[in-house]
Amino acid sequence: MNRITLTVAMLCGAVVIGCAQTPSTPQATKYGDGELPIPPEYKSWPKFLSDVQRTDTKQVREIYINPIGNSAKMGEAFPNGTVSVMEIYKAREASDGTPLKGADGKLIKGELLKIGVMGKGAGWGETVNPPELRNGDWVYAMYLSDAKTKAPDDLATCRSCHLPLTDKDYVFRYDEYFQKRAN
Ligand code: HEC
Repeated sequence: MNRITLTVAMLCGAVVIGCAQTPSTPQATKYGDGELPIPPEYKSWPKFLSDVQRTDTKQVREIYINPIGNSAKMGEAFPNGTVSVMEIYKAREASDGTPLKGADGKLIKGELLKIGVMGKGAGWGETVNPPELRNGDWVYAMYLSDAKTKAPDDLATCRSCHLPLTDKDYVFRYDEYFQKRAN
């Protein structure tokens, strides 16, 4: 429990009435790796990128970004409160393991394997150890397809792969996103 939630809980204990809700917005709660939940409404968010072709890993990915993140301008870092959700689908394969392709030459989305999330908030990166693996204030989590059960991924691997992208706010396909976005 972080300090803000704790304070509210203490106030609620004293007051009781009018305390039905504790703060649950990303800004009010400080998350570390593995703690950031998948917001249930993420499919209604703006698309970050759609139908990302990963022939190397035989996957197709759908990436969403929340409206706070979508308000960033090209060249800027994403604001605190940004959350990005990435669905990872297995690409369909022929019986010999060759990836199947549609008439458009693209991989065909099969079953949903996992859902990854990254989000940033003031001071969230401070919990990261070792500090050399800090990605600014971003934290990471990976779930199975139910969006609730934690996937067995080592979250340090997320950090080390995204780490070199310091001038893109640790976000892969930063340029592609801003170039494809309508404005
Ligand atoms: C080996 C490199 C690598 C590792 C490890 C990795 N990622 Fe990524 N991540 C990428 C790439 C590349 C993309 C861009 C989409 C694509 O091409 O698949 C991406 C995109 C994302 C996105 C969408 C937003 C963005 O930055 O573009 C999220 C969310 C994400 N990764 C979360 C995670 C999580 C959580 C983990 C650890 C469980 C993780 N990643 C591990 C390479 C990596």
